[in-house]
Amino acid sequence: MNFGRAVIWVADSFYLCRTHFYYLPECLPELQAKKILMVKEHTRSWAEPFKIKMVELLKMTTPAQRAKAIKEAGYNTFLLRSEDVYIDLLTDSGTSAMSDAQWSGLMRGDEAYAGSKNFYHLDAVAKKYYGFKYIIPTHQGRGAENLLSQVMIKKGDVIPGNMYFTTTRLHQELAGGRFVDVIIDEAHDPESLHPFKGDIDIEKLASLVKKHGADKIPYVCVATTVNMAGGQPVSMSNLMALRAFTAKHGIKVMLDMTRIAENAWFIQQREKGYSRRSVASLVKEICSYTDGATFSGKKDALVNIGGFLALNDKDKFEEASNLVVVYEGLHTYGGLAGRDMEAMAIGIVESVQDDHMDARIGQVLYLGSELAERGIPIVRPIGGHGIFVDAKKFLPHLKQTEFPAQVLAAELYEDAGIRAMERGIVSAGRNAKTGDHYYPKLELVRLTIPRRVYTQAHMDVIAESVERVHERREKIRGLEMVYEPRYLRFFQARFKKK
Ligand code: F0G
Repeated sequence: MNFGRAVIWVADSFYLCRTHFYYLPECLPELQAKKILMVKEHTRSWAEPFKIKMVELLKMTTPAQRAKAIKEAGYNTFLLRSEDVYIDLLTDSGTSAMSDAQWSGLMRGDEAYAGSKNFYHLDAVAKKYYGFKYIIPTHQGRGAENLLSQVMIKKGDVIPGNMYFTTTRLHQELAGGRFVDVIIDEAHDPESLHPFKGDIDIEKLASLVKKHGADKIPYVCVATTVNMAGGQPVSMSNLMALRAFTAKHGIKVMLDMTRIAENAWFIQQREKGYSRRSVASLVKEICSYTDGATFSGKKDALVNIGGFLALNDKDKFEEASNLVVVYEGLHTYGGLAGRDMEAMAIGIVESVQDDHMDARIGQVLYLGSELAERGIPIVRPIGGHGIFVDAKKFLPHLKQTEFPAQVLAAELYEDAGIRAMERGIVSAGRNAKTGDHYYPKLELVRLTIPRRVYTQAHMDVIAESVERVHERREKIRGLEMVYEPRYLRFFQARFKKK
């Protein structure tokens, strides 16, 4: 990467992104001081390191069909039928296109109940690329979160973390713990240009330890590319500082390594001293500062289903191996078919290749810059797995209790059949004690980009559609919640127009 030939843009908005945009790690502090957002490089476009061998045909719908579909779905994009969706940006989870190597791996599935050869392949790959001592497969990330929470958390414990994630926090709570957010303040500010908004505020953590005592804190839960903050990475230096602090207090560090390769890519691009390191080596280094991890293979690892729990402590591993039998299946398949474990093993290796990551995040940056150019308020810096539209700014006339992000996601669907996801007050849920909503500072719509699935022309259609909705934003009305499920309400809640 030749940073010397980069063109630096000093401006309040992003510019054309037909090529990569990068931070210049060496002069980052200086760039930030000058409010320089991005750096344009005159080398090559972010084009994909693959060609397309098979396609899935999509149904094209009319505006009237879409208006009917979203009304029937209670204005909740989770309740739409996928065949009514043109571009599906609901999630990057389980929606990747697998490679021909992964598909052929499916044919090598060993579906023995116990000791499948695919388990041993997955086990070896996960240990090689992540460096943990013990691996327990689970059907997906939340299966691992359940096991981890049960073996680590006692009633009354406090679990600090760099912003909550829905399923992670719920499992901590179900195990009797309480999540406390210790992410840096910048993470809650959609306009802050901090390059590592996923960082933990060690001061906040220190005061928590002082208040509750280290023995009430079984572990710090640190997530890579923090989803709810907009796909924002945590820096290597912060992970090292966290390791040093927690070691002093005898507190463990558990990683939510769901999008670890994306985080590693940001470290390579932005953090001083890492620009010549491979994504693979950075991934392994991140893991080395932790004691274990939960992993949703449905993101980085390019599979439609799968996950695992990784641990370094033998006793905790044995406890979790015993529990997995109750919730998922035998410890050598954990709820997965042998073929799924094979596809995940192959996907892990593909996920840490530099050219793959350049194209993966290159596409996200491309869409982000197209939107920013059109004056759409988005979370900055652009994150790893999607663009997060700031719904509070997009629809300033709506109160948070009128669910601006939920409305905006529904409007995007009506406009062009694009399915996005609410990440705001509905996702945040209610405080179990007071019964009131949590009121997150961030009220976002996530345009999540599946890996290796859509083309640049699809990205253009998305940008044009968001722009059209933006042009008629003042006419958009709020929603009223008419059905609210008890757990993770955003999945199944129903709304009507006000
Ligand atoms: N942790 C993070 C940061 C996640 O983003 C997810 C899933 C999980 C854990 C749970 O993993 O779905 O395999 O059980 N996120 C998906 C999303 C659902 O759309 O962001 P899972």
